[in-house]
Amino acid sequence: MIGMPTLLHLDSSAGGTASRSRRITAAFAEAFLASAPGNRVVHRDLHADPLPHLPDESLHWAPALRGAGADPGPDAERLQAGLISELLAADVLLAGVPLYNYSLPSALKAWLDHVHVPGLTAPSPVSGAPLAGRPAVLIATRGGDYGPGTVNEGRDHATPVLELILGTEMGMSVRVVTAGLTLAGTVPALAAQRAGAERELADALREARSLGASLGCPGA
Ligand SMILES: Cc1cc2nc3c(=O)[nH]c(=O)nc-3n(C[C@H](O)[C@H](O)[C@H](O)COP(=O)(O)O)c2cc1C
Repeated sequence: MIGMPTLLHLDSSAGGTASRSRRITAAFAEAFLASAPGNRVVHRDLHADPLPHLPDESLHWAPALRGAGADPGPDAERLQAGLISELLAADVLLAGVPLYNYSLPSALKAWLDHVHVPGLTAPSPVSGAPLAGRPAVLIATRGGDYGPGTVNEGRDHATPVLELILGTEMGMSVRVVTAGLTLAGTVPALAAQRAGAERELADALREARSLGASLGCPGA
């Protein structure tokens, strides 16, 4: 860790103040900030302040690994370099991951497309693994029931992609905190599961606060 312990806090929900993932990431960030003097949080709201789609495929590679003649343009390179430095400067990554169409929100996918770069953030023959072992906490929210034996079991295609890219590829130490059944209050077919939904939210908030505090003060 160089300088003050820093949390990079990403939100991607289009849900505004009702968003469960925003509520849980906020609880984590608050606990991280309170756990040691000097801790800081960099908040990036990928929904309110969206990134463009990756404008050129050459940006998927570090400059040394790009094909001949690749020219993504200075504005695109500057934007990507800023996002990558922000990630590399963070001691802990926190991301709100609402499930949209069984996948991750396009706002978060655009961020991932910008920062997953072999040779810069992911290992390649010309680089080390700068993010290896760094904690990444995913706050996964979803409207339905994805428990064992349900029709939705195994249909969450958001967290597996992030675990693969951030964890397997970049080497980060990924933890997932989940709150499901978030639509139990509004979808009649899920009404019988309202108590379970409240329990899942309370458990997720408790787990997020505890993780935020321990990752904000690792030696404690
Ligand atoms: C565009 C969109 C697509 C959604 N697709 C799914 C889905 O495939 N499966 C599901 O269980 N819930 C789905 N939902 C419900 C959200 O996952 C749920 O409302 C969740 O709580 C969103 O996270 P948030 O509370 O942080 O906003 C969808 C919601 C939206 C807005």
